[in-house]
Amino acid sequence: MSKPLLSEQKNLQHLAIIMDGNGRWAKQRNLPRIAGHNQGVQTVINIVDECARQGIRYLSLFAFSSENWGRPSQEVDALMELLLQFLASQREQMLENGIRLRVIGDRNRLSEAVRRALTAAEVETASGKNLTLVLALSYGGRDEILRATRLLVQQALAEGGDPAAINEQDFESCLDTLGLPAPDLLIRTSGEMRISNFLLWQLAYAELYFTEVLWPDFDAVELQKAIDDYQRRKRRFGLTDDQLDTEPKLQRETTD
Ligand code: IPE
Ligand code: IPE
Ligand code: MG
Repeated sequence: MSKPLLSEQKNLQHLAIIMDGNGRWAKQRNLPRIAGHNQGVQTVINIVDECARQGIRYLSLFAFSSENWGRPSQEVDALMELLLQFLASQREQMLENGIRLRVIGDRNRLSEAVRRALTAAEVETASGKNLTLVLALSYGGRDEILRATRLLVQQALAEGGDPAAINEQDFESCLDTLGLPAPDLLIRTSGEMRISNFLLWQLAYAELYFTEVLWPDFDAVELQKAIDDYQRRKRRFGLTDDQLDTEPKLQRETTD
């Protein structure tokens, strides 16, 4: 009998991935770094497809960080070009597969052409009901938190509200990820064991999974290993085992 789909297994609603190791993949083959990024795009296509097939509702991919702006301009330009190609080549697929695109990050730093293509893709795919693909571009967790804080202060000043009344929900409503559930599982490829400024607020209770596999080599088999590992985890959300065993509902309530 074939394995049940993920959506029928333990709840993995939102998967986040730090796609790392493209440069090293290319270096191992004496290729320019961009060849690694090229191959990395193929992995993105495969993994989006696999996640949709598995019934995962949200997939967040760290594609370009606020710190990545500091890379050589040639590499930055090539990455932006790859992004445009990805959007153009995946348009049909996304529409066909009910994939909704959502972009998080500081769009103001992106070129007008990239901004336009992203907005067009978001609008076109807005009715996608299967998988929400969240692309983190020009994204930094600290930057997002700072922008959210500015927004919150602006609102508070305009409304003359009481700062003591601000709660977590108010703060979340100012984040780029407004309306998205927090990631359940974070995967980082290439053996690095750090967050690198990804979803700092949202990852508070995510399960973390690290693999040595470089992003261009990551595939459905490697994804399944991460998912299997996740299925074995016990998410306590600060509670005790006894509480979770006797009152499984509590676990959900603390995360709602
Ligand atoms: C991840 O691969 C892709 C981006 C950060 C855009 P890297 O380009 O960081 O690859 P390594 O870490 O140099 O191998
Ligand atoms: C993190 O990878 C950013 C993305 C995957 C887009 P980096 O390769 O930029 O991270 P560091 O510099 O090794 O922490
Ligand atoms: Mg890297």
